[in-house]
Amino acid sequence: MAALSFKNLLDANQITKEDALTILSLAKEYHDGSLKGKKLWDDCRGNILATLFFEPSTRTRFSFETAMLRLGGQVISLENEETTSIKKGETLADTARIISGYSDMIVMRHPKGHSVASFAEYASVPVINAGDGANQHPTQALVDLYTIFREKGRLENLTIGFMGDLKYSRTVFCLLTVLSHYKNNFIFIAPPSLKISDERKKVLAKQNSNIREVENLDEVIGELDILYATRVQGERFATKEEYDKVKDSYSLSKKDLVKAKKDVIIMHPLPRVNEIHPEVDSLPNAKYFEQAANGVFARMALLSLMKK
Ligand code: NCD
Repeated sequence: MAALSFKNLLDANQITKEDALTILSLAKEYHDGSLKGKKLWDDCRGNILATLFFEPSTRTRFSFETAMLRLGGQVISLENEETTSIKKGETLADTARIISGYSDMIVMRHPKGHSVASFAEYASVPVINAGDGANQHPTQALVDLYTIFREKGRLENLTIGFMGDLKYSRTVFCLLTVLSHYKNNFIFIAPPSLKISDERKKVLAKQNSNIREVENLDEVIGELDILYATRVQGERFATKEEYDKVKDSYSLSKKDLVKAKKDVIIMHPLPRVNEIHPEVDSLPNAKYFEQAANGVFARMALLSLMKK
């Protein structure tokens, strides 16, 4: 099996074009097997995955855990730091040393930017960043890339609209980072206060993608091959007042799609709050639940390729 270029996955920038191809091909293999009824593989047999979540999660944690179990491995899990020695004042560095002695791989989510990278410095087993504040969430980018590949059959020559909280969304920036290996058109759809930061825009400007910014979906809906919506990240705002001002900026309903291409796909990393009206769920264009389910296959591929 082709090796990946990284030992720990902390930042979407580490994922080379070759890595992406290796992961996507293996994810497809697992997915095809699953569609044929296969439920259990041996590729991680004997391995224990530790999942450490210091911030809420449904999809990321469960899909990683399901992935490890499907690969024949086992899982130990922390959902609540209140029940660990962190509560007694143990540092993340010591926690990394300790959990490395109990597991073969660690998946970690933490509210503080860069904390997973610092943790990884003290871990002796591979560490995967499952989200560190508004900073990074590289495995969601792999899930999204795999979904695009499956639904569109290609990763280039696409016009992709990113709508919603582009300021704090870690999934948008990570997906943009992995997509930078391919040539696409990106349209950012956000009110002024939720625009992608200048710092992130500078990074993207160095890549070969075309970028446009608009405030209203209506201006661009007819051009899109993919509409990627995001939740306004309430937990990242300094005050509730600031969040309240923008929390209902967008709510996609069927009428917003009247001018859309027939085969536009709608993606969302989920959870959604009000960004997509439930009436959209039954359209063939709505792919966010498939996207969530794809998380298992993309993460199976990653675990399988990263294990020691
Ligand atoms: C996202 C996240 O945690 O960044 N969810 C996920 O991992 N599927 C998006 C979000 O919380 O809005």
